[in-house]
Amino acid sequence: MKIAMIGAGYVGLTTGACLASMDHEVVCVEKDEARLNVLKSGHLPIYEPGLDKLFERAVARRRLSFERAIAKAMDGVDMVFLAVGTPSNKTGGIDLSQIRAAATEVARHAPADTVVVIKSSVTAGTARAIRELIGRLRGKDDLSVASNPEFLREGTAVTDFTNPDRIVIGADDEHAAERLSRLFAPFSKRGIRVITTSTVNAELIKYASNAFLALKIGFINEIADFCESIGADVDDVAFGIGSDRRIGPAFLTPGPGYGGSCLPKDTRAFAQAARSAGTSQRLIECTIRGNEKRKAMLADRIQREMGPKTSGKRIALLGLAFKAHTDDARESAALTIAARLMASGWKVAFHDPEARVSDHPQLAGAEQCATAYEAMQDAEAAVVLTDWPDYADLDLARMRAALAGNLLVDYRNVFNADEVAEAGLRYVSIGRRPVEPSDGFGSGKRRAGRRSEQAAVAP
Ligand code: UGA
Repeated sequence: MKIAMIGAGYVGLTTGACLASMDHEVVCVEKDEARLNVLKSGHLPIYEPGLDKLFERAVARRRLSFERAIAKAMDGVDMVFLAVGTPSNKTGGIDLSQIRAAATEVARHAPADTVVVIKSSVTAGTARAIRELIGRLRGKDDLSVASNPEFLREGTAVTDFTNPDRIVIGADDEHAAERLSRLFAPFSKRGIRVITTSTVNAELIKYASNAFLALKIGFINEIADFCESIGADVDDVAFGIGSDRRIGPAFLTPGPGYGGSCLPKDTRAFAQAARSAGTSQRLIECTIRGNEKRKAMLADRIQREMGPKTSGKRIALLGLAFKAHTDDARESAALTIAARLMASGWKVAFHDPEARVSDHPQLAGAEQCATAYEAMQDAEAAVVLTDWPDYADLDLARMRAALAGNLLVDYRNVFNADEVAEAGLRYVSIGRRPVEPSDGFGSGKRRAGRRSEQAAVAP
């Protein structure tokens, strides 16, 4: 099939390259000149594991190409995916102007019978509104508007595309349902569940899924706080909870609060839409507030651990990205935590393998270091903020030697408390009791339970 993908951001680009690798002819439309030039020169503007190879192959086989104008991608097109941005607006809802602008151009240039598929995350009812808009502009109802929400996670987007838990097709007419079912037939043949429903249901499935994931994270973070106050160990508790198949182990890893471009934005939009409909979603409202407070609370906790005299002192923040395997730091807890520490006079030294301090104006003055050890050199404390697997392999003795102080704050629970104590570091983690450095003979005051091997609850 010939497919136009409007918007070559992370979702559009990944989906476009994956569809091209299934032998469809995909044209990605990108209005940002700089981004378009990067793509046309055969490079990727984002870091996403596995995407580079897929991208190179698809471009080489002439299955994937790029255009600036929607009009130029409409010739003989079967489907147009809208994967443009839907940023938060001032009330917490989403700004649909890019969706409307793209739909307007599509209405002008698309051939009859084209299926317009909304890939961007949107509030329930958007596909119906866009169908009305397109029908009004064309003076006839000859295009279908469908919904195909994406469930890709940054960092694992390519494998998520290839092996999804489910594919959701939202279609309000047979034509759209049939064309999308054909597109996803290779998945249904492999036994992957393809759910076909109305557009409004599909849109709600997307938001409610992200809301539920946010609830799970919010829940385990509150359990972690409770664990700390009663001397329990959240890793073991999460393992015990997640072993119930009705609950499941995923998204029960405590941390500094969820971030990224999706969970925070989608939960706000979901809550706002529900409020406008007169059916407030109190659980998610509470989760959103709790998540914001958590980021500030964990920054203040570092301050408390360090005492009042912090002005001009150096602190190493390990991780800027909102999670591992991405260069994206949008709504990352690291941004809030760094901003609060800098406001209190700390000199912040970041390390992140992919995310860049220079992409975030609010971090002006923070240093970006090439290695974690460089960030820790002469710092009073080190704070792990992103779950990059490499951090777990850091040499604790070398960390101790680099640091001027002896505090290791681990907001991702990547280290083993005993080993940290044995290296002579004071250890503060999430949902586990703090640990004092050992006396050097392996008999340190271990105030936390050892993290059980089995308790590593993989998300
Ligand atoms: C999320 C959803 O997981 C995807 O299914 C969805 O397609 C995507 O949003 C989207 O709407 O586009 P993503 O934002 O890539 O994907 O990241 P997640 O893996 O969901 O992580 C979100 C945040 O929660 C991160 O800050 C992560 O560190 C945190 N998290 C996740 C935890 O603190 N604990 C966990 O157990 C899991």
